[in-house]
Formats: sequence, C-alpha cells, structure tokens
Amino acid sequence: MNTRHELGFRSAQHVLSSNDMKTHTAPSKDLYPHQWLWDSCFIAIGIRHYNLERAMTEINNLLDGQWKDGMVPNIVFRKSNFLINDANIWKSWISPLSPKGIKTSGITQPAMIAEAVVKIGEKLPETQRKLWYKNVLPKLVSYHEWLYNDRDPHDEGLVLQIHPWETGLDNSPPWMGDLHDHRLTWWVSVVKALNLKPIINYLRRDTNKIPAGERIDTIDALALYDIQKRLRRKKYDTKKILSHSLLAIEDVGFNSILIRANSHLNTIAAEVNVKLPITLSSSMAKSVRQLEKLWDEDSKYYYSRNFTTHELLKTPTIASLLPLYSGAISKTRARYLVNHLKNDNEFNSSTPIPSTPLGSDWFSPTKYWQGPSWINTNWMIIDGLRRYGFHSLADSITKSTTDTIELSGFYEYFNPLNGEGAGAPNFSWTAALYIDLIKNTDYAPK
Ligand code: GLC
Repeated sequence: MNTRHELGFRSAQHVLSSNDMKTHTAPSKDLYPHQWLWDSCFIAIGIRHYNLERAMTEINNLLDGQWKDGMVPNIVFRKSNFLINDANIWKSWISPLSPKGIKTSGITQPAMIAEAVVKIGEKLPETQRKLWYKNVLPKLVSYHEWLYNDRDPHDEGLVLQIHPWETGLDNSPPWMGDLHDHRLTWWVSVVKALNLKPIINYLRRDTNKIPAGERIDTIDALALYDIQKRLRRKKYDTKKILSHSLLAIEDVGFNSILIRANSHLNTIAAEVNVKLPITLSSSMAKSVRQLEKLWDEDSKYYYSRNFTTHELLKTPTIASLLPLYSGAISKTRARYLVNHLKNDNEFNSSTPIPSTPLGSDWFSPTKYWQGPSWINTNWMIIDGLRRYGFHSLADSITKSTTDTIELSGFYEYFNPLNGEGAGAPNFSWTAALYIDLIKNTDYAPK
C-alpha cells in the first residue's frame, strides 16, 4: 500500500470502529444508529479485509431480523442509547410474520447479502468457507424465494418494490415523480399548498444535524412517511397492499442487484453441493432474460417500470446504469451505458458518478439521491465495468473516488461538481468501500 492509502486505511478503520455498536455497525452514529440491510453488506465487504469474524457477525446479526416468510427487513432496531422509539414507527410486531424478540422495519432493501457472503468467503480458507456458506445458505435461499413468491406475483421475473426506501435510493426521481404526479395524500398536499414546510422542517431530526439543502425535500420526506404509514395499516402484507393499488414499481436498480446476488447464490450453493429449489432457479434464470424488458431503445437506457401498467418510467438515474453490475446484459448494451458514463452532460462529472445526469431537470448537486455521487453506487459500477472489460474507465472512477474521499473525508455523499462532502460525516459504507477499493487497486491482478 502506498503511504496515502495506508493513512486512509487507518482512518477508515477508525470510522468503522467508532460506529461499531457491537451488535452491528451503525451507518452513522448520530443520524442512523440502527442496522440497515445494504449498509451492513457494504460494511462487511470492507471489514473483511482486517477482521473476518466481525464481518461475519455483521451479516449473521442482520439475518437475525429475518421474517418467518424469508423477508430480510431494511432496518433492524437495536437498543441504541437514543432513538429507540424509531421502532414504533414501524411496529413490526403487528405482523404475525415478524421475528420474535427483535424489532424491525416492515420492508426490505436491495439484496446485497449474497455479495457480502461471497466476498467474506473469498478471504476464508476452504473448510471455513464451506462452513460459512452452509450456515447462511438456507437463510439466503428463503430470502430470495420470498422475493420471487411475494414480490413477483405475476411470475414476470422482475420483482416489485412498494416503497422508495426499498430501493435504497430514497428520493430517486422516477419514484418521486410518480408520487408527486399521482399519490400525494391530502395532508401532504395541504402542507405543500399552504407552504407549512418551515414548521415541519423545525421538527425534522436530519435537518437539525445536516443542512436542509443536503437532505430530502420536506414534501418528499412527508410523502415517504405517508406511504410507510399506509403500508403499516396493511400490516406489510403485499397482497393487501397491491389490492389497494398502492405504489408498486419494478425498480431497475433493485432488480439488477438481485440478478447479481442470484449468481452469487449459485456460487455458494455449488461450493457446498446443494441444489437450489427448481422454482427458485427458474425464477432466477427468468430475471436474467426479463431485465431486457426495461431497455429503452430510443434513449439507450434501462428504466424502472410501473408494476401495474408496465409503463417505463423514463427518467434516467444512476439506477439506469446498474444493469452493468447485474452482469446480465450484452456487451453491446454495456457499451451504450458506458457512453452515458462518459458523456459530459450526463454522468461524466469531475467527481463521479452523479446520482442523476448533470443535464437532468432533477439534478441538484447536494440533494441526496438527486445529484450527489455516492460511494456504494460507484463501487457497484466499477465492479460491473471490470467484469465487462472496461478496465481503464473502472480505474479512473476508482482513482477519483478514493482521491475524493482522501481529500474531503468519509462523507455520506459528495457534490459531483466540486468533490465536497455532504450529508453525514464518518459514514460507514464510505469508509468500508474505500478500504475495498484501495485493496483491489493495490493487489488485484489487472
Ligand atoms: C438512507 C439511504 C439508504 C441507507 C440509509 C442508512 O436512507 O438512502 O440507502 O441505507 O440511509 O444509511
């Protein structure tokens, strides 16, 4: 490791250990003290480089929150010194399917777990790896089965999400556009019309800690809480939720990540000589083919799709590029996505990769998932680019990513125009994936 990376590595370890709550690593001690699904996966991918035991605990404890039907919730609540009431927003115990003795949310997040399991496995000696895989495989299988059984009711090969929080990109434009156009509930519309935002702002926890310009817009935040309340009323029962035609979108990012996770699931099962259930294998194969249904030939982008109408939501975002990470698209399609990455009016910013194209009406350099560059999406795209053979682009994105972090700190996200950090400081996945990126740069064969 060069000296800069050596220093960065130590600072990243420090961020992770200061966010270590023993049961899990908090994404950010002040802002997000609980355990989040995909955060824990990215965190484990970093921690595995220096503490395999801790990385395994991160994943095992996340899986403690798994529901009886296989769902892995996006948040597992632990007794943190404050914010324990957050669990009451969800009241997971109202569902008979929630786990006993542990409070969770009632929705999921991108299925990154198999990726983290394999990445940990890569570091373990064979016997221990097999043991590790054997222990987690049944839980992973039941999670992936749940995704298809519960979230692909028409057997389309694409799974649907019922809340933007499930995509991990909370205020992503296609979802927020859909919400604003069709679904703002009366009381959120009243707040909007009467311009009561300042009063609500006063009550918001996140904007008390982070400048409002770097967080979700208040109307968007209220709309997200409103859908959450409606899901709770249906006890998180997907059938009931769909029969009331609440929001349902087959998100392109979520499905791309699932496809990648499916291929890891095959790897894990093969290594321990377990045959996956036939129905699951056939759904997994179907997803690879169906991703193509999200392709739009005119704009040369992949888009999320409305579950009911099958209409593509033609607003490009970083999620439109995640099919690169899926590994399921052709090299020709990958090349088109690379063109978008290299386009100065789209994703080629000085601090890559913006979460919406620079020329988009939605673009706002510090507004959460509506502009800033995030390290987890960079990490997935770098990984995809390498698997498609675009090494020099992967190298240059890796370099700007690690340079930015070394200069600005381990922020939650970064202004793509000037590299300044925004959102929460000392953010765990930024630290963890920084470690993974420098380790790969230093040691990986090209
Ligand atoms: C925000 C992010 C989400 C993340 C969570 C915890 O809600 O949008 O992706 O998992 O914070 O860090």
